[in-house]
Amino acid sequence: MKKNLVIAIDGYSSCGKSTLAKALAKQLDFIYIDSGAMYRAVTLYFINNKVNTFDNDQVAEALKQIELNFHARDYQSHITLNGKEVSDEIRLMPVSENVSEVSALKLVRHEMVKQQQRMGKSKNIVMDGRDIGTAVFPDAPVKFFMTADPNVRAERRFRELENKGNNQVTLEDVFENLAHRDYADTTRKESPLLRAEDAIILDNTNLTEKEQLAFALEKVSLFLQPTSSL
Ligand code: DC
Repeated sequence: MKKNLVIAIDGYSSCGKSTLAKALAKQLDFIYIDSGAMYRAVTLYFINNKVNTFDNDQVAEALKQIELNFHARDYQSHITLNGKEVSDEIRLMPVSENVSEVSALKLVRHEMVKQQQRMGKSKNIVMDGRDIGTAVFPDAPVKFFMTADPNVRAERRFRELENKGNNQVTLEDVFENLAHRDYADTTRKESPLLRAEDAIILDNTNLTEKEQLAFALEKVSLFLQPTSSL
């Protein structure tokens, strides 16, 4: 098998990309990389340091101060921002409400894409995001584009927040945030969310986690066949 196989997963907010990506990584013993966590961690830094997103010099300077690292444990993705684990904090509403604006910035995207491409150079990875199959790894041999009914997505994200003890947000808040992010992600100038022509569509509105994993594994297995020596 090739040493640096990349599986690219793109799609709308909260449609189960990370669930599928983690399950695939576990099953195939690949490294899971959550590219959205990188944009979220940058957003957290910008909020904490009051970075003015309209000022390119401030943005460029802030990006130089940010060090992001992933710690792959149990095929989950733990991210540190300048040495501090921020995996939970980046999922809270203040970051969710500002991440679209930050992730639309050219300087931010340029830096994140550079770091993401470096990660895929020597390892087998599953990476999920919005532009993985189109901009980060346009040559990835396996690409999925995920989608699901917006109501189902909001409900799933709401339950996730609730399970983490976050009781201040309503289902309507979550729905609105998702709608806002879908709009921002698909209409921004810099690498908008778009299905790569060769991406396999996976609508999981009515699929269980097990069913979507089986679907994806079947597609991936075509690329994992040992190559013939003839
Ligand atoms: O996957 P997520 O919801 O955690 O991502 C958070 C935000 O980051 C999302 O609203 C859009 C942005 N993002 C992006 O622009 N490009 C990526 N490759 C991943 C995420």
